[in-house]
Amino acid sequence: MSNSDEQLREAAAMEVEKHRAQVEGDPYRLSFHHMPPVGLLNDPNGLVQWRGEYHLFYQWMPFKTDHGEKFWGHYISEDFVNWRHERIALAPSEWYDKDGCYSGSALIHEDQLYLFYTGNVFNEDGEQEEYQCVATSKDGIHFEKKGPVIHVPEGYTSNFRDPKVWKRGGKWYLVVGAQNQHEQGKVLLYRSSNLLDWELLGPVAGSNENRLGDFGYMWECPDLFELHDKDILIVSPQGLDPDGMKYNNTYQSGYFAGQLTAEDCTLEHGAFHELDRGFEFYAPQTFLDEKGRRILYGWMGVPDQNEQSHPTVSRKWIHALTIPRVLEWNGSQILQQPVSELAEMREAVLLHSEITITNDQKAVRGVEGKPVELRIEFEEVEDQFALEIFHYVSFSYKKSDGVLTLSRPHFEDKSQTEFRRTVLQEDLKELHLFIDHSSIEIFVNGGKEVFTSRIFPQTEDDDILFTSLGTSTFSIEKWKLSGYNMM
Ligand code: FRU
Repeated sequence: MSNSDEQLREAAAMEVEKHRAQVEGDPYRLSFHHMPPVGLLNDPNGLVQWRGEYHLFYQWMPFKTDHGEKFWGHYISEDFVNWRHERIALAPSEWYDKDGCYSGSALIHEDQLYLFYTGNVFNEDGEQEEYQCVATSKDGIHFEKKGPVIHVPEGYTSNFRDPKVWKRGGKWYLVVGAQNQHEQGKVLLYRSSNLLDWELLGPVAGSNENRLGDFGYMWECPDLFELHDKDILIVSPQGLDPDGMKYNNTYQSGYFAGQLTAEDCTLEHGAFHELDRGFEFYAPQTFLDEKGRRILYGWMGVPDQNEQSHPTVSRKWIHALTIPRVLEWNGSQILQQPVSELAEMREAVLLHSEITITNDQKAVRGVEGKPVELRIEFEEVEDQFALEIFHYVSFSYKKSDGVLTLSRPHFEDKSQTEFRRTVLQEDLKELHLFIDHSSIEIFVNGGKEVFTSRIFPQTEDDDILFTSLGTSTFSIEKWKLSGYNMM
């Protein structure tokens, strides 16, 4: 390990200690989400299960609540609920990653854990350079950097990052986010037999590829995998204009479903679907666990989207990851469900069946508090149903036009009281909510849609109110949650 690596780790550890009391005393700290110990967290990285343990790495800037020279922080768990915060996996210490060990993925090969990540550099002329780099580990905790293995190809700009690697048919494949010289976002596909020498097969998808037309100037964080009989490409395109209910955040994250023929570098795919309808969701990554589940984590944040207006900034930290979600393919779309292990956090259940509200707003006995999990099953929504949570966020369904709406105050411009995100659903059958001290994740109709958002209510407010126009009949299960056990 170089001197600079050692010094950076020490400086990060000192920064954690220096601000520990201020950060940990923040009432907006979450109880069942991954956060930075200080500074800024962004993308989930290197998701993998190895020797029975789940490894979850994250983009981390310890020294400020803003983006910059990222480290890879590291959490480990056997069960998604009990977590160990491990030593820093990667620090930005070498010439090829000195301005950030940017996002990437993990794989297991010959009993070693490999990390593929992007080395970010601003050279002497202030120009950006990005390299795809490798680091390996025999114990899953200490990593040895091997340096760059892929350089920007001809015809592409230095926006070239976020490698995701997998094995198919005895070969290794890698996708990486890229931008060509015409400022079109692309996903490049590479192949290798030894993980060190990589052959570029070409752009497998992107803006102006596969009959897509213009679709953004940069595609970040690609992830390509099989889900049942489909090949799914998850990607985070930048540069899409808002289009009705679609693309209302600063940048988007979603998927294309299709069929990959890796040898010809073709992906026949359909339309782009956003994975989440809330205000804060970006840069998701998936992995296959030993049970064969395809599990996704996302970043509960969006770059350049009012980040400095989050109230946690004054407490020296910002952002968190989502809860883990299992992906399924139902024949026409992805469904997302929280991993079943999260039920371990449940304390006593409270059950109410056959609640009927007609043209009224009501509290339901015992249904309040945070952190909390709620499952609401509907027998009938005649006209409109709404949940109002902590007098801060409202989530509603209007049957006549099938619109689901999440609204919450704007962080920056508080005068925008009608700050909302919407999507269509034919019916409202079920809501499954995970509410933490400053976040909400709402799974609709068995995970057909998800709304993920940060919320910053008055910290003592824990009221949940139910409103119906016309008659709504439903049952509720409610669990107070113990939260993650973090060591
Ligand atoms: C996505 C992203 C990635 C990049 C990383 C840097 O949020 O911009 O493209 O690797 O963040 O932290």
